[in-house]
Amino acid sequence: MMRLITERLLLRDFELDDWPALHDVESRPEVARYQSFEPRTVAESRAYVAGACEEAKQETRETYDLAVTLVSEDRLIGRCGMGLTDPDLGEGMLWFTMHPSYWGRGYATEAARGLVDFGFRELRLHRIWADCDPANVASSRVLEKLGMRREGHLRENAWIKGAWADSLIYAILDREWTSSS
Ligand SMILES: CC(C)(COP(=O)(O)OP(=O)(O)OC[C@H]1O[C@@H](n2cnc3c(N)ncnc32)[C@H](O)[C@@H]1OP(=O)(O)O)[C@@H](O)C(=O)NCCC(=O)NCCS
Repeated sequence: MMRLITERLLLRDFELDDWPALHDVESRPEVARYQSFEPRTVAESRAYVAGACEEAKQETRETYDLAVTLVSEDRLIGRCGMGLTDPDLGEGMLWFTMHPSYWGRGYATEAARGLVDFGFRELRLHRIWADCDPANVASSRVLEKLGMRREGHLRENAWIKGAWADSLIYAILDREWTSSS
């Protein structure tokens, strides 16, 4: 059972009855706006949480898709995850999504920092990267606050909500993380 504790948050594996709280986040158009998925239906939210619970049981784990809970309110406010995109090279990919009522209070940055720290210190990863739509200023700001470097700008490599979208690629290396934290 995975548990990461940060200053204000607990990041933990999903449980089956987390789906309504996650649905309240991911069924919102403003949350799905820059993401490859449409606002989730109830069936999709249930299936998503069930899949995350299954993944958490794997002996050799390649995905850590964690519920982010605000300890002071004992409330699920989003999710933050990391997937090993190339385990042999020690490369992981990071993502995060928060409930709009909780935006702008540093929670995504705090959750992501906890997971990146776990990735470098416990999983001994070499490189952690993320991508985001250039129009998603909040997301790119989080990645910058983590100390990630903007490595590239891919043109029209994604199809988001009926239109081509560019992607910014951000990454940080293990030695950069350990020297700055
Ligand atoms: C991206 C997201 C997770 C950020 O969550 P959050 O908890 O609000 O993030 P933080 O509070 O840690 O940081 C957000 C930063 O973006 C800034 N920001 C937000 N909207 C902004 C805007 N329109 N223009 C400029 N800066 C903006 C905030 O001011 C803050 O920066 P600061 O600390 O320098 O002031 C949240 O907006 C979200 O869930 N979006 C929908 C899902 C999504 O797009 N996920 C990322 C997919 S790549």
